[in-house]
Amino acid sequence: MPFPEMRMRRLRRSENLRRMVREYSLSTADLIMPLFVRAGIDEPLPILSMPGVFQLPVAHVVEQCRRASDLEIPAVILFGIPAAKNAVASEATRDDGIVQSAVRAIKDNVEGLVVITDVCLCEYTDHGHCGVLSDAGEVDNDATIEILAAQGLPHVRAGADVVAPSDMMDGRVGRIRSALDSSGFKDVAIMSYSAKYASAFYGPFREAADSTPQFGDRRGYQMDFNGDEALREVAMDIEEGADIVMVKPAMACLDILRRVKETFRVPLAAYNVSGEFAMVKAAAEAGWIDEKKARLEMLYAMKRAGADMIVTYWALEVADELSR
Ligand code: PBG
Repeated sequence: MPFPEMRMRRLRRSENLRRMVREYSLSTADLIMPLFVRAGIDEPLPILSMPGVFQLPVAHVVEQCRRASDLEIPAVILFGIPAAKNAVASEATRDDGIVQSAVRAIKDNVEGLVVITDVCLCEYTDHGHCGVLSDAGEVDNDATIEILAAQGLPHVRAGADVVAPSDMMDGRVGRIRSALDSSGFKDVAIMSYSAKYASAFYGPFREAADSTPQFGDRRGYQMDFNGDEALREVAMDIEEGADIVMVKPAMACLDILRRVKETFRVPLAAYNVSGEFAMVKAAAEAGWIDEKKARLEMLYAMKRAGADMIVTYWALEVADELSR
């Protein structure tokens, strides 16, 4: 029935009518809170390009995890900033590394929270690349995946429930899966950053994680702006044993989220990355955009695109808002 008999506006006339016909829901259960844990500090260090986000000592990480858990956020993802970096990321594989210490402290103090750890070398290498370098100065895929497997194991021994490789080396999911299985961790899940684009929207994260590449860029391993290639990446990761796949960055890749969900029907994460957060924060601080409305609109768009869960720096604030 066309206009004027049919009028779409009838169901938009009140908040409750709009709530009744809302097709998508955003719940606290969808949120994963990222945290940066830094060795050798006693107080939080602000990250200038991400207002309200800090590098934290372990005790403060535990505090944030308690707040998340109280608000019923199901999971956190940890990134580590070690005391020392070198060419081969030695700090990444130690049993007493900073992420491992944080995992143990969370597990000792916060009941039931799912702890995910980021597995990647860029925070641990002095050159800032996500892997170790060959003699030719290129990131050496096959040598790197051995170290990534050795990085994941201490996280899991410390109590991590899920490991999340974000490096974009080929074969790393399979390599990590077999390392976990042969060490008695067959029940630990892998959340793979499967379709991770070489994106300008990670800029603020590199300040947060102190991981800016000292030469070149990440285009030798992260994806170009392609579509079908993302599906191949996801297919390979599922084949290698990924339990959850991720698309990153979220806002510039909503179409990819949808295609991945429709093609594979597996648990799907979106990463609402640092640049997306920083853009809204900066515009809001200038008085040019309403931060609360903008962030909800973004998160709903990710859900509509097909995401089952969203890594977002707004996790605490949004969970707080949803709980009211
Ligand atoms: C590490 C990693 C990055 C992000 C998550 N894990 C940065 C990068 O690849 O350069 C980005 C997250 C964000 O921007 O919020 N490889």
